[in-house]
Amino acid sequence: MTLSRDLFPSTFKWGSATSSHQIEGAAFEDGKGLSIWDTFSHTPGKIKGGDHADVACDHYHRWQEDLDLMQDLGLNSYRFSISWPRVIPAGTGAVNAKGLDFYDRLVDGLLQRNLEPFVTLYHWDLPQALQDQGGWVSRDTAYHFADYARTMAEKLGDRVTNWITHNEPFCTAIMGHLYGAHAPGIQDLHSALQALHHVYLSHGLAVPVLREHSRPDAQVGITLSLHPVYPHSEQPRDILAARRHDGFRNRWYLDPLYGRGYPQDVWERYGQHVPDVQDGDLDTISAKLDFLGVNYYFREVVEDSPGHGLFDAREIHLENVKRTHFDWEVFPEGLTALLKRIHEDYAPEKIYITENGATFEEEMVDGQVDDEDRRQFLEDHIQECLNVVQAGVPLEGYFAWSLLDNFEWAEGYDKRFGMVHVDFSTQQRTLKTSGNWYRDFLRIPVES
Ligand code: FCB
Repeated sequence: MTLSRDLFPSTFKWGSATSSHQIEGAAFEDGKGLSIWDTFSHTPGKIKGGDHADVACDHYHRWQEDLDLMQDLGLNSYRFSISWPRVIPAGTGAVNAKGLDFYDRLVDGLLQRNLEPFVTLYHWDLPQALQDQGGWVSRDTAYHFADYARTMAEKLGDRVTNWITHNEPFCTAIMGHLYGAHAPGIQDLHSALQALHHVYLSHGLAVPVLREHSRPDAQVGITLSLHPVYPHSEQPRDILAARRHDGFRNRWYLDPLYGRGYPQDVWERYGQHVPDVQDGDLDTISAKLDFLGVNYYFREVVEDSPGHGLFDAREIHLENVKRTHFDWEVFPEGLTALLKRIHEDYAPEKIYITENGATFEEEMVDGQVDDEDRRQFLEDHIQECLNVVQAGVPLEGYFAWSLLDNFEWAEGYDKRFGMVHVDFSTQQRTLKTSGNWYRDFLRIPVES
């Protein structure tokens, strides 16, 4: 049967996702404070090609055009994030009215176009002023985040019904504090685990605050990057290695949210590096969620490898599989496997795919970008979403990453993920083949 929108429930959310630092630009305008990514990308050697996001897609000035694009695509939802330092430049204390007004207008603009806002509060751009006081490694940051959440809910909570506290805490913690490839560029395991714990504490503190200051039908969730982990062989030792790696990648993040605390086996492997957890923290962290946001990009395949890292497991780079420009394996079936597993093991009330997409090498020829690889990628993953829905998993929406080509963190502008091409010298937007396909897919047939 051909894949069509009618096969999904009519209430299904169809969207695209972006984040503030990756698209807004206007990094030093209208009273915005610096974020750790402003600092990081201006530190020599951190970003490919010396790129930075000072202008990015200039969405801060071109947001109306971008909202029109989404309306033309036929989306019914849009996931974006708020830049904390745009709203509260020092991270705590004085609010920047101009920053707050930007998001106020954005939300109104979305609603006028029948686009339902999904608002992420933290997509990695921590105010630099808070980093100077220890950032996520400091417990105080969690309380500042809850105050920031209140500011946003008080301003937007009469219109916004979907709140996502954090995007991909794994990346905040591990990419930012262990690998050092992301801001703030720290390389220390204990700091990474402590940062994660405070991110989680901040999430747990913010959940009731968001509910209290928003409309009664407000829904609050969090977005995790999750990867189904496959053993390289059916040998018991590889199966056990996959289980350990799953602890590192997935269970460490899921278990505390669902009231199980940090998984014991992973805790033991982390040994002396484990975070300081205070009485009551785990109860705060497991505040009831209305939905779980899942970012799905690729699976991981691992084999037993004694002595390799803390988990004695090694990731295998499979040959002869399709890969993206990021070298990520294209593996649509992993989406179904992952969501079925989450449904069985954690039973979230609702799940959204809050990001899914791919980067491929592509060029503009005669004003067109024929990104057939991305088009196929989206179609194959949306097909998996359908399988998941039909299997009875409460998947209620899909957000393609991304609307626009944008600043891809440490990769700069080298990796394009958009359904819409952006010429970064002129800021011209051009719908790619994938965007056209998504629009056709979303078009609701007119009854004759
Ligand atoms: C995710 C991030 C998002 C984007 C995609 C490609 O990990 O949440 O901002 O960079 O990867």
